Amino acid sequence: MHTIPAMTTVALGITLALAGCNQAPADATNHNAPAPRQQADALVAKLTLDEKLSLLSGPGYGPGAAPINLKHDVAGVAGYINGVHRPQDGIDIPTIKLADGPAGLRINASRDNDPASYYATAWPIGSLLASSWDVDLVRQVGTAIGEEMQQYGVDLLLAPGMNIQRNPLNGRNFEYYSEDPLVTGKMGAAMVSGVQSQGVGATIKHFFGNNSETNRHDIDDLGEARTFREIYLRGFQIAIDDAHPWAIMTSYNKVNGTYVNERRDALQQILRDEWHFDGLVMSDWFAGDVKTAPQRQVMAGQDLIEPGNAKPLLQEALKRGELSEAQINEAASRILAKVIKSPSYRRQTPNNQPDLTAHARLSRLAGAESMVLLRNERNALPLASNSRVASFGVNQINTYKGGTGSGDVNAAKTVNIADGLAGRFHVNQELQRYYRAFYASHKVFHEGKFGARGHYTCEEAALDATLESLISSAAQQQEVAVISIGRQAGEGADRTDSKGDYRLNDAEMQLIERVSAAFHSAGKKVVVVLNVNGVIDTSWSNKVDGVVLAYMAGQETGNALADVLSGAINPSGKLTQTFPTNYASVPSSTTFPGRDENGDGKPDRIDYNEGIYVGYRYYSTFGKAVAYPFGFGLSYTRFDYGEPRVVSNRLDEQGNLILSATITNSGQVSGREAAQVYIAAPQGTLSKPAIELKAFAKTALLAPGSAEQLTFTIPASLLASFAPQRNAWIIEPGSYRAYIAPSSDIHGITPVTFTVAKELVVSHTTPGALALPAGVAAKAVTTLTP
Ligand code: BGC
Repeated sequence: MHTIPAMTTVALGITLALAGCNQAPADATNHNAPAPRQQADALVAKLTLDEKLSLLSGPGYGPGAAPINLKHDVAGVAGYINGVHRPQDGIDIPTIKLADGPAGLRINASRDNDPASYYATAWPIGSLLASSWDVDLVRQVGTAIGEEMQQYGVDLLLAPGMNIQRNPLNGRNFEYYSEDPLVTGKMGAAMVSGVQSQGVGATIKHFFGNNSETNRHDIDDLGEARTFREIYLRGFQIAIDDAHPWAIMTSYNKVNGTYVNERRDALQQILRDEWHFDGLVMSDWFAGDVKTAPQRQVMAGQDLIEPGNAKPLLQEALKRGELSEAQINEAASRILAKVIKSPSYRRQTPNNQPDLTAHARLSRLAGAESMVLLRNERNALPLASNSRVASFGVNQINTYKGGTGSGDVNAAKTVNIADGLAGRFHVNQELQRYYRAFYASHKVFHEGKFGARGHYTCEEAALDATLESLISSAAQQQEVAVISIGRQAGEGADRTDSKGDYRLNDAEMQLIERVSAAFHSAGKKVVVVLNVNGVIDTSWSNKVDGVVLAYMAGQETGNALADVLSGAINPSGKLTQTFPTNYASVPSSTTFPGRDENGDGKPDRIDYNEGIYVGYRYYSTFGKAVAYPFGFGLSYTRFDYGEPRVVSNRLDEQGNLILSATITNSGQVSGREAAQVYIAAPQGTLSKPAIELKAFAKTALLAPGSAEQLTFTIPASLLASFAPQRNAWIIEPGSYRAYIAPSSDIHGITPVTFTVAKELVVSHTTPGALALPAGVAAKAVTTLTP
């Protein structure tokens, strides 16, 4: 389907080689075996109450907390599901191992008394991968992560992260895919299906509303049911429908006054009854009231409490009759139904030999295919190979492969930007020496709370006489300037709208100004590279000729960037989150990261004031300017969009709408294009965003002059809006416009129309689920309405 650049053959090779592996996935082994759930029920029937309670409560850390029946440990995993060991009765369920995370398998690279190393591949962060708009690519990355899990003996991945990028300052946005639920859902599904193709499991997380890190264990998200259903839950539902993840992890936060992990409406009624999720539900680590009342989590429908041995409290709750043995059996059975599919249960021995070389190549390709060219005035890019490049900014040495915390990966190395550029271009050595020295004297060891360790500096070299003179001579001798700007962030803290974080600091601003002045007056161009965790202010970008959003591309960041700058890979990434004109224009900027209601000095309540108007849904509906719109990204070639067509309109409850358009490469070099379908709904009883993304597709690599017809299928369920008064998802009647467009900026694009003759009720929902707390009026929370 998809014509693949030379390097991708390697990735395909990996997939094929894996298909021939001796370690067959569980589902392929015995077709006559009873379904996992029946096997699990039969096993549970043989277990004692104590054994069942051990299954429900993950072991803790440290002495005395050893997992039960651990056959083989993997250092650095985040947790375990206890096993059961009663060989005299033929019961031998091994402990299974759970490891993070979203940018690759997070295990320790070394083990006590073991000379071997256990590096894993650091992949591009979620926000970058999603910017590929390429579900096939994400599936390949997932497959490779699954292979590393299998090779290293890890059973269940604690990823992908699927929270919505509600606000650019969420410290953990880098792990997540998008401000849009469809992109989030499709990327999550692709990752899950890749991982699970290797006979290991994936855990979609954090369900739901974990959209900020400040006081994350206690923050209460207040919002209307429609807001949660249409924006924050829909991605999870798509991933469940499309890819059947083994597990889902609930979030730390509360929603409308109650911890999500204690909300039966969320865990039972929505997840299982409405969506038919059949996997296991686990807590986030030490979440909620686990120290005092873990039984409430089980009563709500959570199967597994991680970590720290909640058993004694569960036992007491059973004695008091708060919890029943039937509830314990159900949870134990749901856990075992997945455990019995795991490599550990199937007694697979880790080979500890993942193909890290092939995976590094795929990581590089994934990074390059996903980077977003935000600005390219007068064809500043691509740069001819061997161009003389003056590379500025300490971030070229201090390159970030990913964010910190559980989304980090212990990779063997990171190719920094300086080395990546040096592999393709003639790089000015004096400047390199200058920045290496600056890095060496300014790096600080950061030991964050959540494994955020490492040496880095958050400073940029200030303009002094030495740097001034380096800039002047570089502007004479070199052909182009590349300035790297970096931002780190991670779990446990949010970012701030301040200089050095969301905004450039003075040294960075002066560097951009001074380098631009010197290079422009010598008739040369300046390109800024953003090696960032998420959105930053770009109000300076008209000072420079090119801007490449590299995000954090994993261990191959420098190489992937060089591939894009040189045109070896024509950039085809597009934004999956809006870059606003400034932070104050973000609709949730007034409520993020919450307000302190109980006077303990920490925010404890966030009002989802913008309702469903998150990201481009807000900017497009309220007519607000943005710096770079959702869906936007440039290429070194041009694409023409042929007339959109309605291929079929079978919109009934189970039906769908099929659209198509032909995309032609009308430029000079080969390239790929991610086309997006935005629907403008007629005004009915529910207020609707001006446009909403309902489908997307990416072309193969198209040679100049060649074309591809893309087809977009939109199921009725995706077209529907949530009608709270009706407890239903409905499609309102009327004439709809569909824009098949290169980005969410649909100005000047001619839509195709289709009609919905009468109202369609696509599905019914649980009355009253996710209601606001008593006494809180919707109008008091959702203050922003069109
Ligand atoms: C994070 C999860 C992670 C878990 C285990 C928690 O702090 O929120 O995303 O999977 O730790 O490392």
